[in-house]
Amino acid sequence: MLENYKILTITHRTTNLNKLGKYVMQEASQEKLAALKQQFGLEELLYLATCNRVLYFFKSSNTFSVNFQEDFFKFINPALENGSLSCLPEIAEYFDGREALNHLFEVASSMNSLVIGEREILRQLREAYEQSYDWGLTGDSIRLAMKSAIETAKEVYSNTRIGEKPISVVSLAIQKLLASKTSKEARILLVGAGQTNKLVSKFLKKHSFTNVAIFNRTLAKAEGLANLVKGKAYSLDELNSYEGGFDCMIVCTGATKAIVDQKLYTQLLNGDSDEKLVIDLAIPNNVAKEVIDSTNINYIEIEDLRQLASANLSFRKKEVGHGQKIISKNLEIFQTLYQERQIEVAMKEVPSEIKKVKAHAMDHVFKKELENLDEDALELLNRMMTYMEKRCISIPMVAAKSVIK
Ligand SMILES: NC(=O)c1ccc[n+]([C@@H]2O[C@H](COP(=O)([O-])OP(=O)(O)OC[C@H]3O[C@@H](n4cnc5c(N)ncnc54)[C@H](OP(=O)(O)O)[C@@H]3O)[C@@H](O)[C@H]2O)c1
Repeated sequence: MLENYKILTITHRTTNLNKLGKYVMQEASQEKLAALKQQFGLEELLYLATCNRVLYFFKSSNTFSVNFQEDFFKFINPALENGSLSCLPEIAEYFDGREALNHLFEVASSMNSLVIGEREILRQLREAYEQSYDWGLTGDSIRLAMKSAIETAKEVYSNTRIGEKPISVVSLAIQKLLASKTSKEARILLVGAGQTNKLVSKFLKKHSFTNVAIFNRTLAKAEGLANLVKGKAYSLDELNSYEGGFDCMIVCTGATKAIVDQKLYTQLLNGDSDEKLVIDLAIPNNVAKEVIDSTNINYIEIEDLRQLASANLSFRKKEVGHGQKIISKNLEIFQTLYQERQIEVAMKEVPSEIKKVKAHAMDHVFKKELENLDEDALELLNRMMTYMEKRCISIPMVAAKSVIK
């Protein structure tokens, strides 16, 4: 019954993170995802893209051909070159049925994250679900799976030590910043003012960095972060004419194309030839390749944080086993829940069908006989029929549920 749940995903486990961006939907939108659903006959779809995975969770009764994964990613990104398609058997993971749900529960519980135990993934998964729901892409089956995934994640976080001494991709990036001996007065440019750079700002405040300029598409959000770090806020467009120079730039937006290209970078340098620290936390990267290849740049991206992540997390890995036990238990519960739900859906028509049978009997089949009954007899018969109607409605539901248990 669970076999229609499916996941196609590419993660930090199988690929270098700077390649991940190629498999992310460029400027994902309701129209594009609806077209994807239609193209591959998906009944429901949830799309999640984070800094260490892209995940397509869907419900479909289709059996997919051997070329499915290649066709799927070609549809996502028509510009994918042959090399990025031919490596799909090594880097893409496909799960169905219970395995798909197991994967979803592990992702929600942060057992599959680059930084095991980081809680950011649960927020990202919830937001991805809300977005897919708002866009009309999901239905009852994904709703049910998400409800259980969230409950499971909460149980794992509170009953294991997986989230102890919390660290995140951002805290690892800040460790790199601190290790670079950047001075507290250094000119720091923050590009983007989403959840990730909000967390960056909190760390900058905590470590007393005093000279921060924040650029964002929506000025109000930049102003929010500027208040936090006592910095200056600008709209993203103003970056093109900014002349304040910089020592460190931390770039992180949801844009699927590079924001900092060579022209902009040269202009931001403003003739300065000292080495610059550039931290790019976006997937796909927000700093263009030609900038990364230029001299005097100490470029750090998420892939560079992998080593730090594994050094920090060895003790948490032990907790993954405890988390897996919770997931196995909850998968059993989910299976029963799912079957019950399918029965409820199938039985939705039963009350109205029974009502129709009753009306047909009284208005047609026994019409003549009923005309001969006196008022008391008719009233008694009506009461009996209503009693039977109510009792009959629950019989098939109880019988079906007893088969499951
Ligand atoms: N959350 C994490 O734990 C984490 C960790 C590391 C890396 N990342 C990566 O960081 C990136 C952003 O994640 P987030 O969680 O901060 O997202 P978010 O909270 O949704 O914020 C997105 C930010 O990007 C800006 N933005 C979106 N599309 C843009 C575009 N086309 N052009 C310019 N600016 C654009 C938004 O500007 P507006 O305010 O104007 O909408 C906002 O500042 C993603 O690539 C993600 O994979 C996330």
